[in-house]
Amino acid sequence: MLLPKCLGLLALVCFSSAANPRIRNHDTHDYYALHLRSDASPQQVSLALGLDYEGKLGELPDHHTFSSPRRRRHAADAILEDLRRRRRKRDFTGMGALEGVLWSQKQKTKARMVKRNVLPPMLNRAPPVPGSKEDAKPAAVANVPDNTEPVANPEAVAQRTDLARELSIEDPIFNEQWHLFNTMQLGHDINVTGVWKQGITGEGATAVMVDDGIDMYSDDLKDNYFAKGSYDFNEQTDEPKPRLKDDRHGTRCAGEIAAVKNGVCGVGVAYNARIGGLRILSKIITDEDEASAMNYAFQDNQIYSCSWGPPDDGRSMDAPGILIRKAVVNAIQNGRQGKGNIYVFAAGNGRGSGDNCNFDGYTNSIYTITVGGIDRKGKQTYYSEHCSAQLVVTYSSGSGDAIHTTDVGVNQCYANHGGTSAAAPLGAGIFALALSARPELTWRDLQQILVLTSVPINEDEDWDTTYIGRKFSHAYGYGKLDAYAVVEKAKTIDLLKPQAWLNSPWMHVKHPIPQGVEGLLSTFEVTEDQMTKANLERVEHVTVSMNIEHTRRGDLSVELRSPTNLVSHLSVTRRMDDAKQGYIDWTFMSVAHWGEPGVGKWSVVVKDTEVNEHNGSFTDWKLTLWGECIDPSSQELLPMPKEDDDDNHDVITASPSFVSVVAVATETDLPANPTDHQHRPVNAKPISSGPQTTTTASMSASTTATNLPSEPPVEDKESPHFLPHYFPTFGVSKRTQVWIYGAFAIIVLFCAGLGTYFFVQHRKRRRSEREDYEFEVLDDEDAALNGGVGGKKKGRRAGELYDAFAGESDEEGLLSEEDEHEYRDEDPAERGKKEGSDSY
Ligand SMILES: *[C@@H]1O[C@H](CO)[C@@H](O)[C@H](O)[C@H]1NC(C)=O
Ligand SMILES: *[C@@H]1O[C@H](CO)[C@@H](O)[C@H](O)[C@H]1NC(C)=O
Repeated sequence: MLLPKCLGLLALVCFSSAANPRIRNHDTHDYYALHLRSDASPQQVSLALGLDYEGKLGELPDHHTFSSPRRRRHAADAILEDLRRRRRKRDFTGMGALEGVLWSQKQKTKARMVKRNVLPPMLNRAPPVPGSKEDAKPAAVANVPDNTEPVANPEAVAQRTDLARELSIEDPIFNEQWHLFNTMQLGHDINVTGVWKQGITGEGATAVMVDDGIDMYSDDLKDNYFAKGSYDFNEQTDEPKPRLKDDRHGTRCAGEIAAVKNGVCGVGVAYNARIGGLRILSKIITDEDEASAMNYAFQDNQIYSCSWGPPDDGRSMDAPGILIRKAVVNAIQNGRQGKGNIYVFAAGNGRGSGDNCNFDGYTNSIYTITVGGIDRKGKQTYYSEHCSAQLVVTYSSGSGDAIHTTDVGVNQCYANHGGTSAAAPLGAGIFALALSARPELTWRDLQQILVLTSVPINEDEDWDTTYIGRKFSHAYGYGKLDAYAVVEKAKTIDLLKPQAWLNSPWMHVKHPIPQGVEGLLSTFEVTEDQMTKANLERVEHVTVSMNIEHTRRGDLSVELRSPTNLVSHLSVTRRMDDAKQGYIDWTFMSVAHWGEPGVGKWSVVVKDTEVNEHNGSFTDWKLTLWGECIDPSSQELLPMPKEDDDDNHDVITASPSFVSVVAVATETDLPANPTDHQHRPVNAKPISSGPQTTTTASMSASTTATNLPSEPPVEDKESPHFLPHYFPTFGVSKRTQVWIYGAFAIIVLFCAGLGTYFFVQHRKRRRSEREDYEFEVLDDEDAALNGGVGGKKKGRRAGELYDAFAGESDEEGLLSEEDEHEYRDEDPAERGKKEGSDSY
């Protein structure tokens, strides 16, 4: 009786451990990610599909990986396609084990992520001599056309000497680590020494570099190396050692966070924190690999530091795939014992190419802290991107010096680390100090601390005062990180209640975008009642998802104006972006509205400022307010992101009557226009009124209106118009106009209703004809997620929310015949390049 059970158990143990050493070979094998019902047996599914079972997919509940040797077309492909069709029709007869398959995705190799270092301005600088004399001037300065070579302040030098003695810092390049203590440009450092003096040095905190490896045998890192949180996803070994000539980036970043205080090179910001590595950047990988990496040891790895992303070429518009988005939400909800892991991302180095971090689905996620770079004089750098999703900045290369840190090798230092690549890890180090001082901070508490403590710089540039009295700039977020202020706030801040959210319906605009200085405005009004129903007390993040058709994407720009009149530049024109498409289900994010009450009119203004042959039309948009809930006891967790919510665009979930479309006057030169538009109000202005002089007049009027309460853009109290000017008045009173337009509106609504009905019918028919992937299955997923209660109803809400992790919908689950052909016949490296260079 017992024996078979024991054998069974043994077999199970063998099976699972056999699947354990995670081996992926993307040259010879295909991989499939499947979401199974929790009672489904992966072994039986693998038998039914003729695939090998590779084990669980990272930490994603009920997700598993399967594989097969690469073939032109595997039988499993056809089976999985058939399965989708059947799930759509809810016809599971004879499916057996496969009935448990809720979702599947054949893995494609991913376009390579780009490291965000910049070529140092002083490439040929000799390596620093260990123990070099204090304040030997950086040789690098020679290359920089700056006649006033910085000189060390003797008093500051003495202070630093005292500090080093007090803390027993004997690391030879500590004196070059100006980002820790700047003796030349006083005040231009992260202000960390006061934290160290309190004995807060990162003890108990853990950060991991998601990168090209870290040198765990470096004398400067090995004592802090955290093996348990480390893995090499490129070579599938436990040690993410640098192996390629170019694998230095991760080690340099790791040194900034946690280089040991030990007489070798310098010290990290959190020099007693543990530091690990997840190596993913040195070979082609799939979403499945990256999703696993982003969740690796997520109870122990508190902070994931990511100094990479899609190319910063001013053309790419790329977001992580669905598995990666799921992994991030999984970490936010379940990682770090439910407090959420901290994802730190480099803002991107594309400023010179007119790039903006809201075109990058990693940096514009509400779940990531986006860190930009300033130089050692506190100046804006030529490379660090701007965007409304950027939370903070900190120091990096520029003005003749760079970040001094550890390099690959037993005792190797590096003096030229730069780009936003070097800024993000300094942030990660500061966050490690904060978690060391206050481990119970959630991911949102930490973001809130940054909103409250970051220090504005260069205030003569373009800063806005936010509702809660903080300063925000698209160039610097809430300002530069101050380690002391962050840690002090971390110690005492009240923890936030859980996160709630409020979704607008998809608002159908379907209107051509005027070219030139005018824009197209659409408004959604949030009521007190909606806030209460959503259990939302106040706003933290705001996301706007939108669809725009346009024949040249780079011509477009989008502003979001909140009820308090604060403007976020969600997108900006990009001169390099020739994509013959607009925005497809793209989600933009802003942190500028943190602390706003949320109630009132939220408007987006879409502009096509380039007067040329490229034009387009604003299809639809959706607003989501994210923030602290009112009643924690009734607040659920956000459902896992879904693959696609296209279908919901046609679902009218609320009366669309609060949508208004008018042309507005706006400034011509948005991104770089300083000082004169603190709160750019947007005035209603008819499309028909042409010349720019009128616009200018209207502009100055609106500028003087800076501090007035927000005027509803469509109403004009002085005019005889009941509607905007371009609607004829028929020479009758407002009251009669109401009647005329009312009758007209009823007719239009009736026709629109009829149209919608036929459209939906048509779509339904088309859908059932189409063989491609749909996600009716998601209802089941949802039922599973919500414990099977009210799955369907919640499913719709979930569908609306799928893109909390910003980005357009992922690739279809399975490749079509043609796709597959391409997949087979192309060298993966080539394909990587192609995918990387092209926009999505
Ligand atoms: C920098 O740290 C010191 C303590 O070392 C503190 O007094 C000062 O206020 C900090 N700077 C800011 C801007 O908080
Ligand atoms: C764009 O321009 C073309 C040619 O002038 C015109 O036919 C088309 O209707 C325009 N589209 C929009 C959306 O304005």
